[in-house]
Amino acid sequence: MKLRHLLLLLLLPTAILLQARKMIRPSIVPLPAVIEWHNANYVFPQDVHIVCPTADSLRSVVERFSASFAKSTGLNVKIVRSSKKAAIRITHDATLGAEAYRLNVSATDGVSIAAARPAGLFYALQSLKQLFPRNVMAEVPVANDRWSIRAVSIEDAPRYGWRGFMLDEGRHFFGKEEVKRVLDIMATYKMNRFHWHLTEDQGWRIEIKKYPRLTSVGAWRESKVLPWGDVPRDHQHYGGFYTQDDIREIVQYARERFIEIMPEIDMPGHFQAALAAYPELSCDPDAKHEVWVGQGVSADVMNVASPQALQFTKDVVDELISLFPFNYLHLGGDECPTYKWERNDLCKKRLTEIGSTNFRDLQTDFYKKISDYIATKPQSEQRRLIFWNEVLHGNTAALGNATIMAWIGADGAAKEAARRGFDAILTPQIPYYINRKQSADPAEPLSQGHGTESLEAVYNYVPAKGVSPDLQTRYLGVQANFWTEWVEEAWHLEYLLLPRLAAVAEAGWTPQEHRHYPDFLHRLTPDRELYFLRGYAYGRHAWGDNP
Ligand code: ACM
Repeated sequence: MKLRHLLLLLLLPTAILLQARKMIRPSIVPLPAVIEWHNANYVFPQDVHIVCPTADSLRSVVERFSASFAKSTGLNVKIVRSSKKAAIRITHDATLGAEAYRLNVSATDGVSIAAARPAGLFYALQSLKQLFPRNVMAEVPVANDRWSIRAVSIEDAPRYGWRGFMLDEGRHFFGKEEVKRVLDIMATYKMNRFHWHLTEDQGWRIEIKKYPRLTSVGAWRESKVLPWGDVPRDHQHYGGFYTQDDIREIVQYARERFIEIMPEIDMPGHFQAALAAYPELSCDPDAKHEVWVGQGVSADVMNVASPQALQFTKDVVDELISLFPFNYLHLGGDECPTYKWERNDLCKKRLTEIGSTNFRDLQTDFYKKISDYIATKPQSEQRRLIFWNEVLHGNTAALGNATIMAWIGADGAAKEAARRGFDAILTPQIPYYINRKQSADPAEPLSQGHGTESLEAVYNYVPAKGVSPDLQTRYLGVQANFWTEWVEEAWHLEYLLLPRLAAVAEAGWTPQEHRHYPDFLHRLTPDRELYFLRGYAYGRHAWGDNP
């Protein structure tokens, strides 16, 4: 054998490997509905022209993308009306759904994107960023004299319209910058509903102009730690709240990422912080009420039969409507003991008036009054109400067109809600309460659970499993919830959130038949770099690393 041939033989495997490396499949999470990879790459020119139709709402999405893309790649990016040598061509296709898009990358023609609405375009651009190394999603500049991406054809639309995440800031308060970091990671995974749990027994976190004591009194307690078992209180004066300006800023930040914010005012239970501020809303105004320094379910609940409580709620709802443009409001409804109502004259009288003996009906009766009040408002101020699934134990005829958020016995509760004609959102405590420990490792930081809510367990939950197609039309989607009794700091929140939020996002987006955990884990792996670049703590268990 000639030396030349021998060399060739030796070099060939390396060449094939290099070729294979070049053709490596980028990782898109959540997995698109239809995706076909091609054996070619597109090399970006130094001057990137983006051709964009003039529609203002599409254009503002492209402007934000182009600034971030230019920053992270160092390419010269310009948005133009027309260009023969466009690297990225955007077209308006009115036949697509609001969140749908097509994305094609061709070695010769570059990138073409079709969308009907800004959300679809935004998701197309998020997928495009995931074809690059993770510095592009992280918006971290990396010097590179040749940016090239794998050719691909994608047709994509989400399985569900509700892909949510709930953060409890009543137990612990994280602040504006941390909420923005959460919204950023939601946007990375194309999640679109931020459920903001703003009130709890342990703290009221939103400024309400008509009731200033809610935040001057209700936002503060005498321990940062919420004692439990052997863990004592620390006697810190602890708290915080969002001003209405903060709220507007965060709502705008979320909207730029196609996330709607739904506030939750939890009532009539989980309401003790409000009662500390306004004892007249309780069943025993002369008793001592304080912002709770404890965990569990407090018996100190709102007096749902009191005219003051009704007026208070209407006033709070008015301010919420002025702050949050999204058409849903959450008025809680979970874990509300009826003990105090059973001993209260106003409550007993109201129960007789409505012809019931079930004290739970007082709660739905109260909600009906709020719902009737909202119905009197002009169209732009109409809002739909959402409740936790315990309300199904009361007279649900009073609940009108409410939506049920199913958490406890979630699969059964969602099905029952749908049978009764309500929309439902699946947020199963097990395994979608992603504040619970993500492994049984003894080194795991303190939190709830036994470590059974691993990334794999979260991923493998199948929404609406075995539910008939007619009932499934009532299922709006899925949501992960995050309760913060044990979670005091931002690093701990992020550590528990990631990467499990991505697993919930994919359940909300990707057709069930395309979801496979090993494939998901493989696609998720490059996001470790994203978390690193953005400085997010995250759980490494799925990759065999220590917590
Ligand atoms: C809940 O977990 N109490 C909704």
